[in-house]
Amino acid sequence: MADVLIERVKLCDYRSYERAECSLAPGTTVLYGANGSGKTNLLEAIGLACTGRSARTRDDRELVRAGAKMASVTMTTSAFGVTNKVSVTIAPGSRKEVRVNGAPVEQVQALEARPLVCLFIPDRLALIRGAPSGRRAHLDALVGAVWPSRRTDRGAYARALGQRNALLASIRAGRAGRHTLEAWNHELATHAITLRAGRMEATETLAPPLAQRAKELGLDGRLEVRYRARSAAEDAVAFLAELSEHTDRDLERGFSTYGPHRDDLVLRHEGRDLRKYGSQGQQRLALLALLFAERDVLTDTRGGFPLMLLDDVFSELDRTRRGLLLDELAGRGQSVITTTDLEHVAGFADPTLLSVQIPRDVISATLADEASERAA
Ligand SMILES: Nc1ncnc2c1ncn2[C@@H]1O[C@H](COP(=O)(O)OP(=O)(O)OP(=O)(O)O)[C@@H](O)[C@H]1O
Ligand SMILES: [Mg+2]
Repeated sequence: MADVLIERVKLCDYRSYERAECSLAPGTTVLYGANGSGKTNLLEAIGLACTGRSARTRDDRELVRAGAKMASVTMTTSAFGVTNKVSVTIAPGSRKEVRVNGAPVEQVQALEARPLVCLFIPDRLALIRGAPSGRRAHLDALVGAVWPSRRTDRGAYARALGQRNALLASIRAGRAGRHTLEAWNHELATHAITLRAGRMEATETLAPPLAQRAKELGLDGRLEVRYRARSAAEDAVAFLAELSEHTDRDLERGFSTYGPHRDDLVLRHEGRDLRKYGSQGQQRLALLALLFAERDVLTDTRGGFPLMLLDDVFSELDRTRRGLLLDELAGRGQSVITTTDLEHVAGFADPTLLSVQIPRDVISATLADEASERAA
């Protein structure tokens, strides 16, 4: 994988931005501005263009500037000297549209034209603190990024699960016989084993760099990650047997109660569940460590650096650790980081600075390219 670089980003009616355009450095771009000036909005928009979804909200309507009808983010990317224009358009009431060089595409087809991304924004703490579904989705996305051939595993399992659930409902309603479940049990079992295998392998690959990154970032104590699977079945046949033990309960409840859609990715700090017992600072550091560990894994397996989008990571780090983090970014692909305080990047080798300003009385913004400015 060559590094896909983002050259320019253009926003139209995206959150606080009416129109804004900026270019990103091939290395680190520092986005600085006061509170509320639109730093997170811009980072979120870049993330949206890269992944097809917002890391902050599931409700795309929030992304459209108040009073506007639709929002769009367009980025110009380049890899191997080939330039592409990827755009995402959101118009509430219509399907989100992804285009590459003007032609509508399914999101997966746009993948070659956009970088892999590791994104930290404070809202993503939900990944540590929130429900298991968020962690499963994140892990599945990582599996797909690390091993592209496994990208469809999650969808294949979800489809089998949906069909089986529909059938359970029909059986409960007396419209189908219990024996009709068999075909879908088989389908579900096959996909369950595949999905779980990918998740477990990714978790095992992630564990050593995660422990290492956490230590470097200053998280005292051991950080471990483990995939908690309900089933210990070694193969589809064994899973099928487990599934049949749960069938009575499934029929009672009306949905599939057993399988990898109930698994979890558990982070333990000093032997305790970080989700339940970790302090806010510990959870933040763990999330940051997780993202850097994912970058390590992606770099090892794909042979290029993913784009790092880091929002508001400096405020809780001391000076030494800020320096460490900046050193970690320098010379290792493209990154965008935000700060309210230029002091935080003072002394950093050679970032490109971009200021973000929102006039107080209007909700619109201008981005000034200040590539020549220096942090010091
Ligand atoms: N859909 C929207 N329409 C108009 N304005 C919006 C929309 N969504 C968010 N905003 C505005 O965007 C601004 C917040 O921007 P953002 O979160 O990017 O700030 P920030 O620079 O990251 O601030 P901080 O340093 O406090 O994190 C707020 O003024 C908010 O009202
Ligand atoms: Mg912010």
